[in-house]
Amino acid sequence: MYSLLFRHVLSRLDPEFAHHAAMAVIRVLGVPPFSWLARTISSPGPEQQVHALGLTFPSPFGVAAGFDKNAVGVRGLDALGFGHVEIGTVTAIPQEGNPKPRLFRLVPDRAVINRMGFNNAGADAAARRLRSLRRRAPRAVIGANIGKSRVVAVEDAVGDYVASATALAPLADYLAVNVSSPNTPGLRGLQAVETLAPLLRAVKDAAGATPLLVKIAPDLSDEEITAIAQLAVDEGLAGIIAHNTTIARDGLRTDAAVVEAAGAGASRERR
Ligand SMILES: Cc1cc2nc3c(=O)[nH]c(=O)nc-3n(C[C@H](O)[C@H](O)[C@H](O)COP(=O)(O)O)c2cc1C
Repeated sequence: MYSLLFRHVLSRLDPEFAHHAAMAVIRVLGVPPFSWLARTISSPGPEQQVHALGLTFPSPFGVAAGFDKNAVGVRGLDALGFGHVEIGTVTAIPQEGNPKPRLFRLVPDRAVINRMGFNNAGADAAARRLRSLRRRAPRAVIGANIGKSRVVAVEDAVGDYVASATALAPLADYLAVNVSSPNTPGLRGLQAVETLAPLLRAVKDAAGATPLLVKIAPDLSDEEITAIAQLAVDEGLAGIIAHNTTIARDGLRTDAAVVEAAGAGASRERR
């Protein structure tokens, strides 16, 4: 049914508009009586529970960061039976993101190129939404993914991440430090161990007892991955999220001119 909907409806719409249209439906599914119906149809069974990070995930299927950047769809995604929703990436300072268009389908590859640029309403707005969500006791685990505000210089990144961590850690089940999105200048450079170590230490202090994870890029070398894994162990992180979108363009079936026209950004294959 999804492939019919994709072929005949969604693929004819602008990708970002299609996303917002889907999110509008998801938001409706978060409100009774639609949420009751969604739960009846898609509640995961108890055998699907996963225990990790000291948390119980109702299902192994969750929603990665980037889908619900502002924590507006969590109730609907929870009603649909997702085991976790990672909101964000949230930045301390609200920002518009890159100019549109910034999301492109590569249909033959079942992939997209995105250069959204962390469009989000900021950490205070996300905290307000999470606070109101907490009162409704969702079953899904809620993670908060934080990133650097674009207007903040890379040298001042620590304070910027700490501001988001302070606002969101008390309201999230886990916190993810995103240093791997390719659409914020300088962000991926924070994956170098010399800069990552002080960043993770400061965010961990701010996060308190909330499990902390770091989200890495798929384009790192084996040596870089080993160094970050060692750092995660040394700093007592709860885990590593592998992985963000790639900047690679090799092996695509889509016409090279179409890929070229989409321009820079991260690509991600749909499975
Ligand atoms: C349109 C789009 C927006 C995304 N936005 C974010 C984001 O804001 N923060 C983030 O950490 N990852 C973001 N991602 C990356 C996803 O969370 C995920 O890590 C990536 O798609 C790889 O997972 P997959 O192989 O399951 O697709 C985005 C991905 C896409 C396609």
